[in-house]
Amino acid sequence: MANNPVHLPFPPARILGIETSCDETAAAVIENGQTMLSSVVASQIDLHAQYGGVFPEVASRQHILSIYSIIDQALQQAHLDLSNIDAIAVTRGPGLAGSLVVGMNTAKGLALASNLPLIGVNHLEGHIYSAWINPNNQEITVPKFPLLALLVSGGHSELNIMTDHLSYTRLGSTLDDAAGEAFDKVARLLGLSYPGGPSIQKAAANGNPTAFNFPRARLEGSWNFSFSGLKTAVLRVVRQIESENRPIPVEDMAASFQAAVVDVLLSKTIQAARAYHAREILVAGGVSANKALREAFLGQNEFPVHIPPLSLCTDNAAMIGSAGYFRFVKGLVDPLDLDVMPNWPLS
Ligand code: KG4
Ligand code: ZN
Repeated sequence: MANNPVHLPFPPARILGIETSCDETAAAVIENGQTMLSSVVASQIDLHAQYGGVFPEVASRQHILSIYSIIDQALQQAHLDLSNIDAIAVTRGPGLAGSLVVGMNTAKGLALASNLPLIGVNHLEGHIYSAWINPNNQEITVPKFPLLALLVSGGHSELNIMTDHLSYTRLGSTLDDAAGEAFDKVARLLGLSYPGGPSIQKAAANGNPTAFNFPRARLEGSWNFSFSGLKTAVLRVVRQIESENRPIPVEDMAASFQAAVVDVLLSKTIQAARAYHAREILVAGGVSANKALREAFLGQNEFPVHIPPLSLCTDNAAMIGSAGYFRFVKGLVDPLDLDVMPNWPLS
């Protein structure tokens, strides 16, 4: 086992991570939960863009075509083969059933053939553990518990309090659209391309965030989110402007929409961190790649904030390898007849 500069509270291990829950086929090798020996992501975005969203059957077929070569590349980049790996971690859910099955069956086959333990990882747990990964092999400050985790992805928006590794209590989640889903839907309303998050961010860069005063659903008294009212407000403005035959002010609308989402996510997370006496805040999931969101969280100084580097915000397998490590060192390995769980909640 290679030397690791990071002080380790747990025994050393190398994990092969595999992720196929949605439209990224990914594999990575992670050492000791933190050191990224390799991470390979094959995005299917170009394939799905023509449908304006992920087409599940196309996604699973593409995973089948890519998965072995992606795993090979991950092992090669790490200069390892399976005999140097201690366990195989794979996303078990939540996600698209057909896509999850491709990763799961591949992981089971490799585990059986190489006599390695299999570890099923919750995709959301993976996003959280992306904040433990150090892609540049320099020492990083790992998050401290109790930790308030805001998860914002294409399928989920939720606040969890973590009192220790692998221990989550969900405080609230979205009542309708996930934050990323709202970005994707509003992008479509504004005629911007899929995936909507990066398109909105780009358009918003030249827009005025106060041009439209879009609603912020604060849902006082709960830790839940709701983005459907905001989406409808954007739709109403688009229809109004169209009926007047005026050009849609896409940049101002994108900036104002983004500001409303960031405002709600930041204020609710800070409130929850105060209420649960969190030491630190963690923001993860695809939407944590958003520049305005990152700046808002990093711009407050009440709580230290962990946000993964951009390359680890959207789906990847390094995060599955990291979460897999923390399960492995606690003896949480799974049987080879493990099934996928497309709706698996984190807590
Ligand atoms: O975590 P992720 O890659 O996949 C899921 O687990 O869902 O998240 C994808 C979501 C998409 O909705 C995408 O529009 C959003 O993350 N996203 C962003 C940005 N980059 C990706 N949203 C806002 N700003 C971004 N820069
Ligand atoms: Zn994800």
